[in-house]
Amino acid sequence: VEYDLVVVNGTVVTDTEIQEWDIAIKDERIAKIVARGGLHDAKALKTIDAEGGYVMPGGVDAHVHLQEPPLFGKGSTADNYETGSRSAVCGGTTTMVTFAPQKKNEDTLLDTLSATHARAKHNCYIDYSFHLLVGNPSEKALSEFKTLREEGISSLKIYMTYEALQLHDGQILDVLLEARKQGITTMIHAENNHIISWMTTQLEKRKLFAPKYHGPSHPAVAEIEATYRAISLSEFMDTPILIVHVSTPQAAAHIRAAQDRGLPIFAETCPQYLFLTKMDLDQPGFEGAKCVCSPPPRSSDSDCDAIWAGLADGTFTILSSDHCPFRYDDAETGKKSSVNEEFPLGHFKYIPNGCPGIETRLPLTLSENRLELTKFVEVTSTNPAKLYGLYPLKGGLVEGESDADLNIWYPEGKMEEFALTNDMLHHDVDYTPFEGRVLKQWPRWTVLRGKIVWDRENGGLLGKKGYGKFIKRDASSLAKPLNAGEWELPL
Ligand code: URP
Ligand code: ZN
Ligand code: ZN
Ligand code: ZN
Repeated sequence: VEYDLVVVNGTVVTDTEIQEWDIAIKDERIAKIVARGGLHDAKALKTIDAEGGYVMPGGVDAHVHLQEPPLFGKGSTADNYETGSRSAVCGGTTTMVTFAPQKKNEDTLLDTLSATHARAKHNCYIDYSFHLLVGNPSEKALSEFKTLREEGISSLKIYMTYEALQLHDGQILDVLLEARKQGITTMIHAENNHIISWMTTQLEKRKLFAPKYHGPSHPAVAEIEATYRAISLSEFMDTPILIVHVSTPQAAAHIRAAQDRGLPIFAETCPQYLFLTKMDLDQPGFEGAKCVCSPPPRSSDSDCDAIWAGLADGTFTILSSDHCPFRYDDAETGKKSSVNEEFPLGHFKYIPNGCPGIETRLPLTLSENRLELTKFVEVTSTNPAKLYGLYPLKGGLVEGESDADLNIWYPEGKMEEFALTNDMLHHDVDYTPFEGRVLKQWPRWTVLRGKIVWDRENGGLLGKKGYGKFIKRDASSLAKPLNAGEWELPL
């Protein structure tokens, strides 16, 4: 037998090409890619006939919160590494980068890293890595960046908001300087915390507590100002950054202008900002809490249209889920923990921020059919792999170099459309913000390192917990300082 698996008769889609190619897989890697028919006498243990389907690299989701302590309001995140990665694979995501959260009262990052390794090890259905979430950039923590790189961690996330995590501008400069020295990419959650708390006080004075007031408590200007400030700090330090979960057209315009000046500013958006608006926060009773995330869904469809346009024109480098799951109906740790005698309809400021979405990211986006297929692959797989130092192992189909991670989809009209319900999903969450949406796409097969881990028509989830492994990452192949060499203090 020459190969472990061959995938024949499909149309292969990468970030740059659409071709009639057959793919041969051996020892977990893409061994050979040949023109259709070229593998007809190849001997393989298994064959997938992808006739009429699209064959794409597996999804890479670079923004995932699993098993995190309370950081974004009350409550710990609902999914652990097992349930979160299970949900991922059933929606075509074969690699995830989750957060290793350092709390404000912790001095070291290396303990955070090993604790996160312990949570993930033997529990994952898919391959994974971590971004360090830096809550306390102490001298010691900063001195550990070098070791982090040696341990295969080439990115970190910092926050301009949330009491539990917020860094002030001086601390951000400390992080950016050390990140620059070590070749680390910094992700920034850009919202102005003072504007948010001032607006929260104004709403409370007026006794406006319903979930829908989460929107006005996080106005667009808070994101727009902080985005511009983050760009300024990055430019000052000549260090690449990625602005996470961008939701407003004006923040996107600041990002675009910086990119047009040649600055290494990268940006991410998420399905929430393509599909949800403030109308989704304004539902009867407490239901709107299901769509509470930060930044919040914005005003109207025209905001969503602008975010779609930013994906198409390259302003956004990546599309991630920001899977940050909280159970809805859970008085202890879920969204309903903010409902009590004093606030019978809840208080928006106590609703934990975040929505589940690791399983729906790819099917929702592809079903909408608003991006070129190559662009879809680029923003959901190839670019996250390149940005975070996983390419060409992940995110591509390079002979001899890429892991054999594939999704096979049917083009529009070839799969029966259906209305999404939460009970179809594999997360440990009691709702999806996308309940009832009509989907035209779902992966038919998903392959991870040569193994069929999802077969929608024969058994569904076939992957095994523990098959997923930790991937050490290199430096970003996209994000680099503008000027190589040492950064010097402008005196
Ligand atoms: O609401 C959100 N996005 N929760 C997750 C935390 C974060 O800032 O990414
Ligand atoms: Zn083999
Ligand atoms: Zn964030
Ligand atoms: Zn997040």
